[in-house]
Amino acid sequence: MKVGVLTGGGDCPGLNAVIRAVVRKGVQEYGYDFTGFRDGWRGPLEGDTVPLDIPAVRGILPRGGTVLGSSRTNPLQQQGGIRRIKENLAALGVDALITIGGEDTLGVATRLADEYGVPCVGVPKTIDNDLSATDYTFGFDTAVGIATEAIDRLHTTAESHMRVLVVEVMGRHAGWIALHSGLAGGANVILIPEQRFDVEQVCSWVTSRFRASYAPIVVVAEGAVPKDGDMVLKDESLDSYGHVRLSGVGEWLAKQIEKRTGKEARTTVLGHVQRGGTPSAFDRWLATRFGLHAIDCVRDGDFGKMVALRGTDIVRVPIAEATARLKTVDPARYEEVGVFFG
Ligand code: F6P
Repeated sequence: MKVGVLTGGGDCPGLNAVIRAVVRKGVQEYGYDFTGFRDGWRGPLEGDTVPLDIPAVRGILPRGGTVLGSSRTNPLQQQGGIRRIKENLAALGVDALITIGGEDTLGVATRLADEYGVPCVGVPKTIDNDLSATDYTFGFDTAVGIATEAIDRLHTTAESHMRVLVVEVMGRHAGWIALHSGLAGGANVILIPEQRFDVEQVCSWVTSRFRASYAPIVVVAEGAVPKDGDMVLKDESLDSYGHVRLSGVGEWLAKQIEKRTGKEARTTVLGHVQRGGTPSAFDRWLATRFGLHAIDCVRDGDFGKMVALRGTDIVRVPIAEATARLKTVDPARYEEVGVFFG
């Protein structure tokens, strides 16, 4: 049995832990051979491979990023893409494909498995934690930890200057990172894409915080949008997923706060710092368990399935369950933290 492995989409701390677990168990317990595909779906599409064996995965557990490289190449958008993948897998003697990715990578895996009979197993990853069918994705805990540490640091500088500090975190469609890091870091306002925000309300929370002699911290997810739609976007373009990319909400909000409250405000955009570097212990634990269960799916011939975390158990679900809709923050979860605002 020869197993191909690829990592697609934005990178995420914990990808290497999955690769290591898959290879270690696959070689040591089942005697499988492996082929690594470079740069997500580009690898099988172009037959671009990298050797994947025990020595290749030595020492990679604590390393961020992915030793296989990643890309947003989508074979479904390319003429003859599926045919080329099937031909390359056959030529390389690859019997099964473990695809580690988010909604786009897994969306391709679902269609390849369900419609074209390519034996794919899915492993969910994203720092955004917005994939359905799994309680958590690895990478999220690391991102929340980084954002929380940043918020802790921003509190002291905000207080020294009695300024408002706006922290923009990742999350185009879901506010999980904003919600968890904002709560853990003691933010005074948390704004998420799921709930349009009222700038006046934000300013009144900010003002009441100053009245209590504290400098406010506002955490805003990059995808958060104001209610009245009066936001002037610095840049509106399509990102490499083809999604509309709205940038600059943190910067825009800080300006609005200054204008409306008369208080000085600064913005910190955490950006890709949230995605880089070593994974947290939780993410290594989750990614490793996902890897161990993914190779078992291959052993069982259980294709078209994705491994997922339910409580503390790893289960198998149809990949399509994860990609059918995004897992967003429900209003009750958001309301729960409102008591800390202001
Ligand atoms: O999907 C993960 C994510 O980190 C989002 O939170 C963010 O908007 C996006 O990727 C950034 O993508 P890129 O690395 O292509 O700029």
